[in-house]
Amino acid sequence: MSKYSFEEIVSHLKTSGYVYQGSEIYGGLSNSWDFGILGAALKKNIKDLWWKEFIEKKPYNVGIDSSILMNPRTWEASGHLKGFSDSMVDCKECKGRFRADKLIEESCGLSAEGKMPEEMDKMIEENHIKCPNCGKHNFTNARPFNLMFKTFIGTLEDSKSTVYLRPETAQGIFVNFNNVLRTSRKKLPFGIGQIGKSFRNEITPGNFIFRVREFEQMELEFFCKPGEDLEWYKYWVDTCYAFVKRLGIKEENLRVRPHSQEELSFYSKGTSDIEYAFPFTDWGEVWGIADRTDYDLKQHSEYSGQKLEYRDPITNEVYTPYCIEPSVGVERLMLMALCDAYDVEALENGDSRIVMHLHPAIAPVKACICPLVKKLSAEAKEVYEQLAEHFAVEYDEAGSIGKRYRRNDAVGTPFCITYDNDSLVDHCVTVRHRDDMSQERVSIDSLREYIEERTRF
Ligand code: GAP
Repeated sequence: MSKYSFEEIVSHLKTSGYVYQGSEIYGGLSNSWDFGILGAALKKNIKDLWWKEFIEKKPYNVGIDSSILMNPRTWEASGHLKGFSDSMVDCKECKGRFRADKLIEESCGLSAEGKMPEEMDKMIEENHIKCPNCGKHNFTNARPFNLMFKTFIGTLEDSKSTVYLRPETAQGIFVNFNNVLRTSRKKLPFGIGQIGKSFRNEITPGNFIFRVREFEQMELEFFCKPGEDLEWYKYWVDTCYAFVKRLGIKEENLRVRPHSQEELSFYSKGTSDIEYAFPFTDWGEVWGIADRTDYDLKQHSEYSGQKLEYRDPITNEVYTPYCIEPSVGVERLMLMALCDAYDVEALENGDSRIVMHLHPAIAPVKACICPLVKKLSAEAKEVYEQLAEHFAVEYDEAGSIGKRYRRNDAVGTPFCITYDNDSLVDHCVTVRHRDDMSQERVSIDSLREYIEERTRF
């Protein structure tokens, strides 16, 4: 786990422009966050990287972009209308509202995931669980609360016009199964991925951007022949874990946790979570990988009356493919990367520096171009303009060079490039590295290649 408190990290992310409070000038909106200059760039880099690694570089996979609003039958078929709920309890004394499973887990360390409301009531009684706000033991019975946001299409606000903001992007993929099969002429195994917003009316959002009501998911639905599913399930668990490790996340902060039999959804043959030791909890889920069998395609076939099946081109056998789903939230992945990257280092001169050791491939800014003195600004700007054609770079001439290095370390910029008097003669600049603060002379002509090589994933 990070040796820094979550409060310290969050405070840095807020002050440095990674994340702003949502609707701040109106006093905010609880648990809503806006991504600032650096946060927006980091998010974009994470999404681009996922798309490259999971869609473009995997010959099996293709990408789509489906709508947030879908025919409500989708949610009947998927089971979300009936079953996408958390059990909540209210404290009768102070009116505090809690997710029953979290209340149980946090009060006495027992897992209540997947338990029925009546079973949770029993656990609350048997363990004499007290309200975390007022300390009293006087709760309502646990009751389900559907997490989907409802809205209306058109001018009438009645049940016929009710639609839902999607709680996951996955269903937009399942309903397009036949379209993708027809237009891509893919053969099994193949996957369909997408990145997009999802919405959940979480009872207890919190821990900054860890659990929010509006977030982005990067989901892949990978279809294969039944019987080959467990092999692909393992492949995707390994692939997602390797991705996280390549991002530079410290291994001691990572684990893969297979779900126990009682935790598994009734249709799943296996589910594993990649978890991170966030500073606010023991372990928090970042990425879920599930063998969903043929559940979703069969449900949509039944509810839509359209067969979502596959015909083997060699044997002519017709069947419903099984599906492996690696699903990750952009904000979760981002929070993990930021918590893992944050460091405060003591310097030889007695000062200290904040440094974000982000993988250069996702760092919001790749390099900052600094003239050593202002009279070299025209030449330094030329270097900036040359690099800005290829990378997200910045130009900074304010303050001492040491201060400029510190500013860039604190936001995770991997390179500072200093144009000095010698540069006029040797056409080289000094590249200073964020992580070990080493410096080297690099010719201006080779800078593009130099940065390209060192910011590759
Ligand atoms: N289609 C499967 C699915 O949505 P999930 O475990 O509910 O599964 C997948 O969500 C991932 O989405 C999680 O592992 C997490 O990274 C992210 N996620 C889920 N709920 C979230 C929330 N309220 N805020 C931020 N991220 C969330």
